Order: sequence, then structure tokens, then C-alpha cells
Amino acid sequence: MTSNIAELVKLKGPISFYEFMNAALYHPAFGYYSTGKCRIGRDGDFYTSASVNLFAWTIAEGFINRARATGLWTFVELGGGDGSFASEFLSYLERVYPEHSGQVRYVLVDPSPDRGAKLEKGSWSSQVDIHTSIEELDSIKKGCIFGNEVLDALPARRFTKTERGWEEIFVEYRDGSLVEVLTEPQDEADIEIVSEWFRGVPCGTTVEYQPDLAPFIRSIAEKHREGIIVLLDYFSTTAKLGQRAGGTLRCFAGHRLIHDPYVRAGECDMTVTVNKNHLLTALEEAGYTGKTCMPQWRFLMEWGIESAFYKIMSTLTREQQIHLKMAFNTLVSAGHMGEAFSAVAANKNLEPGP
Ligand SMILES: C[S@@+](CC[C@H](N)C(=O)[O-])C[C@H]1O[C@@H](n2cnc3c(N)ncnc32)[C@H](O)[C@@H]1O
Repeated sequence: MTSNIAELVKLKGPISFYEFMNAALYHPAFGYYSTGKCRIGRDGDFYTSASVNLFAWTIAEGFINRARATGLWTFVELGGGDGSFASEFLSYLERVYPEHSGQVRYVLVDPSPDRGAKLEKGSWSSQVDIHTSIEELDSIKKGCIFGNEVLDALPARRFTKTERGWEEIFVEYRDGSLVEVLTEPQDEADIEIVSEWFRGVPCGTTVEYQPDLAPFIRSIAEKHREGIIVLLDYFSTTAKLGQRAGGTLRCFAGHRLIHDPYVRAGECDMTVTVNKNHLLTALEEAGYTGKTCMPQWRFLMEWGIESAFYKIMSTLTREQQIHLKMAFNTLVSAGHMGEAFSAVAANKNLEPGP
């Protein structure tokens, strides 16, 4: 039996990997995110830092301190999914900062159909706005834009260096399954960037390029008048990405890595490592200054993970305290999420740095 995505490729003829990944994640009828199949956490397909409640508590702690110092009372969460992070963030503020929690305006942005589902019945409805895209927002006069693992969900083009030069990976339907074919690149501008970035890599190297990344940052900056932006993700430099001969594409279902991206398209997560240099340039071109990049453990320390930890610790039972200690380790230790993820932060019309 072939999947719906395979049927789609059969119908349209060979399509670029970018179109394939876009359909596998966001096709309105078959996409993993757009049909509500995405499950994050223990019973889902993969974990993110947001699966750990101490993560949202720490961001809330760091945000409130910055809001008190700079007056940035709007918090915009990009890729907020079902609102799990948002509900932990808001409940932390209610518990620990009751005098400020009502001042915060929370904006959740996500195209998936279950966006903000966990928030709709909560007590915060008057201070939460839920949107499908950044374009829908009014301008954010003073605010913090935040996104965890949203950039790695933007579709990627894939290119392979051959004896003939850079060729683009297309996906074709053949004898009941999907196969990759190399074709001449379709977009001159993209291939110019890729050949410049990865000049000198050996033949056989496959790399990814996310054409929507810079436009996404631009669309955020167009709305963002003043404040800070913080994006956490799997990042790597152009130089290191050029050393990964097979590229960084990964698919997950039920916490297992799926080696063939074509067998469960539309039913599994599909992600690539984000090019840090690409993001830093996009931020600069969009008018952001004071850019920093640090491992997640250090970022969480700077944003107050220890304060959040101790503030909550004293309210817990012995059993819950053990879980909180485990959560702390998961988020900051190098062997877990502490070094697998990094945070890129920058300012817009705001001094000093975040
Ligand atoms: C890997 S999930 C991460 C979800 C959550 N932030 C977390 O850390 O658990 C990526 C999320 O980004 C959302 N997304 C994809 N493109 C987006 C866009 N252009 N704007 C906002 N959210 C987007 C997806 O729908 C999905 O919910």
C-alpha cells in the first residue's frame, strides 16, 4: 500500500525534496503537523525541551525579570503547538509572580489545527491570543519573541555535489515507492548560496538549505518594533555542516529514528539541523543587533533555571522533588539537552543585550 504523500508525488511527477518535505509536514490533508498527528513527549514521537515543565518555568522566570527591567510585557511563542509550553509558562507566573501575571500578553503562533488547544479552556483566555501565522499579528511594540525547535521544522532543499557540480535531490514515484533522483538545480539564487557556503567539500556530500528561514525572520522583524528574540534549536555552523557527508535530515516516530524518509512520510516528524550562520545573517539583515549564541545549559542558567528550580522545589512532595532534579539534569547536562541544543538571541531597538 502506498502512502497519501506517495500518491501525491505520483500525481505531480518528480518534485523537489523541499516540496516533498513541505507536503509531508504541512499538506492540509496529509501533513504530519497539519493533520494533528504530531505528538510530542513520552507517548509521542520525540521529546523537545518543552516536554520538560522546568523549561517553560525558566523562560517565564527570565522573561519576567526582563519585562520588569525593560517593559517588554508581550511574549510571542512561535511554533507553540498545542500550548503545553504556554500553559506551564502562564501557570508559573500565576504561582510565583501573581502581582505581574495579569500584565503579560501571551501570543501563540502555530499553523497546526490543534494550536493552543491546551489553553482554550484555561483561566488565561483574556490575555492569550492564538494565531496561525506571524503575518496575522498586529505590530509587537515591546516584546520577547521566542521559539523552541520551530526553525528545524522549516522544509529544506537538498543538494548533492557530483562530478557535474551541485545537483538537487528530487523525489519520484517509481514501481510503488518513492525514490530520489538528482536533477539540475531549479533555483539559481539558492544554488549560488549553496556553492558559496560549501565550496571545497568533496563529491558525494549532501547538504540542506532552508529557503524559508530568512523570509520567516524578515516577517517576524517586520512586526517586531522593539525587544528581544530568542530561538533555541539544533544548530551547526556552515563549516561543520559541510563535513556531514550525508546531510542532517532525520525522521522520528515513536522515539525511533526512521532511516528512510519516504516510508512513513506524513506520519513522522522530519527535521534538519539549522545553519547557525544562515540564521545570524538573516537576523542581521532583518535589523537585529547584539546577537549571541550559546549552548542551552548556559542560556538556561542566564535565564534563571536555578531560581525557578528553588522557587518550585519548596512547594513539592519528596517524590516530585526527585522528578524536578531529573528535569534539571535533562535540560542542562551535556549528555542530554544541555549541549545538543543552543540558543540564538538578539535585540531590536533595545539596549543593553538580552
Ligand atoms: C518540532 S515542533 C516544536 C513544538 C514546540 N515548540 C516544542 O518545542 O515542543 C515545530 C512546531 O513549529 C510549528 N511551525 C512550523 N512552521 C511554523 C511557522 N511558520 N510559524 C509558526 N510555527 C510553525 C509546527 O506546526 C510545530 O508545531
